[in-house]
Amino acid sequence: MRVHDRRWLLHKFLHLGTGLLGLTLLGGCIYEKAEPVCVDGPSAKLLPVDLEQPIIYGGDEYLIRWVAFCVDFVRVEFSRNKGIDWTVLGEKIPAKEGEFFWQVPQIYSELAFFRLIDVATNQVLSMTETAQRIIPKVTVLLKDHPELETVGGLLLIELPSFGKVSIIRTGASTFKILNLNCTHLGCPLNTDDQGQNWYCNCHGSMFSKLGCVVNGPAQRPLPVFEHQFNNGEKVLIIYNIQNEPTTC
Ligand code: FES
Repeated sequence: MRVHDRRWLLHKFLHLGTGLLGLTLLGGCIYEKAEPVCVDGPSAKLLPVDLEQPIIYGGDEYLIRWVAFCVDFVRVEFSRNKGIDWTVLGEKIPAKEGEFFWQVPQIYSELAFFRLIDVATNQVLSMTETAQRIIPKVTVLLKDHPELETVGGLLLIELPSFGKVSIIRTGASTFKILNLNCTHLGCPLNTDDQGQNWYCNCHGSMFSKLGCVVNGPAQRPLPVFEHQFNNGEKVLIIYNIQNEPTTC
């Protein structure tokens, strides 16, 4: 191809490109200026961001997002029992904001659902399709609890919507966190007279400080709570998820 022909082709190509760009921008302007036409009425869809997490932890900030068309205000609602009861989280939120932050309470639920309501019509616009779990968690700062700074140290705390638990430091960065309800019939435990074991006043069961059965009628050791320890920041996070202890 001669130089002249190549330049002519390049010129045509640039011309065409500029034209397409102009059309795109023009189209964009027209689109942006156009008023939405609500042919199908109001609609909205919850978006899967945090709504995809299988587990939500109490105390966390949780993001609920959506897209909405032809809706002025939405109400965000939450159910902890698969839609039998609904609690309002956000009363009248401009739909165009498209998001809502929820401070998750310290509750336990296996069947958490969310939905969006059109405030004008009370119509349900969108609802999550699968259940999520909500699990309370407690954050323990070791600087506030010097008893946990040495191995063997013990601290009793209340776990929200659960009750009394014991935290025992078992190593430099290991802990055992015990449910202090008797595994016989669920009575709360106390320390025995020597302060060495956990004792049940109901029928006399006794457990070691680490939760193993010393005397029946209880047969199973005390359940332990899942937790995470950040050794650098000296922060212990306890989740309300219980397992059988691995050693006894
Ligand atoms: S409930 Fe504890 S021994 Fe029966």
